[in-house]
Amino acid sequence: MASGLEGVVAARTRISDVEGAAGRLTIAGYPVEGLAPRATFEEALFLLWSDRLPTPIERDELARDLGRARILDSAVRALIDRVLSAGSSPMDALRIAACTLDVGQAALSDREMAVRLVGGVGALAATIGARFEGRPARPADPRASHAWDLLAILRGEAPSAAAARALDTYLVTVCDHGLNASTFAARVVISTGSGLTDAVVAAIGALKGPLHGGAPGPALALVREVETADRAAEVIRGHLARGERLMGFGHRVYRVRDPRAEVLDAACRALHAAGEGDPALASLARVVEAEACRQLAAHRPGRVLKTNVEFYTALLLDSLRVPPAVFTTLFAAARAAGWTAHALEQRAEGRLIRPSSEYIGGRDRAWPAPAPAC
Ligand code: COA
Repeated sequence: MASGLEGVVAARTRISDVEGAAGRLTIAGYPVEGLAPRATFEEALFLLWSDRLPTPIERDELARDLGRARILDSAVRALIDRVLSAGSSPMDALRIAACTLDVGQAALSDREMAVRLVGGVGALAATIGARFEGRPARPADPRASHAWDLLAILRGEAPSAAAARALDTYLVTVCDHGLNASTFAARVVISTGSGLTDAVVAAIGALKGPLHGGAPGPALALVREVETADRAAEVIRGHLARGERLMGFGHRVYRVRDPRAEVLDAACRALHAAGEGDPALASLARVVEAEACRQLAAHRPGRVLKTNVEFYTALLLDSLRVPPAVFTTLFAAARAAGWTAHALEQRAEGRLIRPSSEYIGGRDRAWPAPAPAC
């Protein structure tokens, strides 16, 4: 049996393909490096759901529906405040609040519910980010683009066109990625005949873990800890000597540098060229990346451990002034596109996912005889 189901094919999908040895990611037919810098999140979402690009009318209609779905009612905003003030993390707040998105929506079709979930998870992620930072969350603007509006809600001010484009690139880059753990969780839930909200909430739980979506915060912390390029070797050596994993490196499928790292690195450079973000931190990060790859090659010679998407996610989101505590909630906002697309695809397939297990426990144990009465 493959440990961690490594290499096991558990679904057929037209949504995305990850080719680990070649370092290629195809999203609904498009190479990620061709799609992500050009498509808006709305266009990518339509593509994932419908397997083709939208016409201008379809694109505008989806943008309007998504905009309406970003409007959160006051009870949900109050719930967010309550759970954050009780000490919940942003991802726990997102999981709790996402459960409310189908309240009173029983009449919606799966596709309508998918719009509500993608718009709602985006608005929740941005609102939680603002509230976690102690700022009022700006109300959604349903006429704005999804990327622009998420930044506006989160930062409390209108972002530049360059910033909105950078966030679009991020959202599209990570909108889907084969049968990753959270997407698999969503497909398992839907396969039982359960609802789309149930699937998305399960996926949020899976994404929270540091081995999946929780890595970019610690990846940024590593770069900040290094502080100056001359300390990179020493700091990284210290982490590896303590048996720690370097966050932002290694991947279950890729055996070369994650192609998404390249796309997000380019988006960072474009943002810096537009006068935003912190180019000095990015230069330091590139030194850290090179040193980490060098030391990882010596540390685990039998395993290729290269930069993954989370390293440049950290740099790009930091350049967009997204606080590290909400990096993973924004990841959820993007991946909600893939989760819903997979849920719709799994629903159409209509077959229960129910693998077998290999039993390694004992057998025929006899129940202990009752102790004789004194
Ligand atoms: N830093 C240091 N060592 C690492 C490592 C990392 N980032 N990633 C893997 N390794 C080591 C493991 O400790 C293991 O060594 P061992 O055999 O001596 O125990 C070996 O490489 C294989 O690791 P394994 O856990 O089997 O690989 P995997 O395919 O299950 O792991 C990840 C994939 C992503 C979970 C893993 O690389 C990781 O934890 N990376 C850091 C977290 C991260 O960036 N996650 C975001 C993924 S997009």
